[in-house]
Amino acid sequence: MRSLTAATLAACALFALSTPVSAGPPAKAASCMGCHNPAKASPTNPRLCGQPKQYLMDATKAYKSGGRNNPTMKALVMTLGDPDIDSVAGWYSSQACK
Ligand code: HEC
Repeated sequence: MRSLTAATLAACALFALSTPVSAGPPAKAASCMGCHNPAKASPTNPRLCGQPKQYLMDATKAYKSGGRNNPTMKALVMTLGDPDIDSVAGWYSSQACK
């Protein structure tokens, strides 16, 4: 019985390790996908896929603060808190452009 429990625990731990941390985009990225979609290049919007995470975070914060002056982007990122910016930038950074 004891060894069965240990085996079950080990199997669970292995499963947890092999499960991808984050497969889909974070919920907060939903409003970005229309213009920034890793699977679809846009003639008007810059691609975020594969960019360094730090670069994306800095750019997003610059739109919020006004350091980068773009009314569209400012309105869109105003609702993002620092944890959101971190997860959205991290996700785009991990995506290969298609
Ligand atoms: C209506 C279309 C649209 C939506 C929706 C949109 N963006 Fe943008 N985004 C743009 C455009 C246009 C630019 C280029 C603006 C400029 O010239 O600075 C841009 C630029 C950026 C950049 C800078 C890219 C670079 O290469 O410097 C980042 C980062 C970014 N957007 C993040 C986001 C995030 C995060 C969201 C979702 C909260 C979002 N965008 C939603 C149109 C959009």
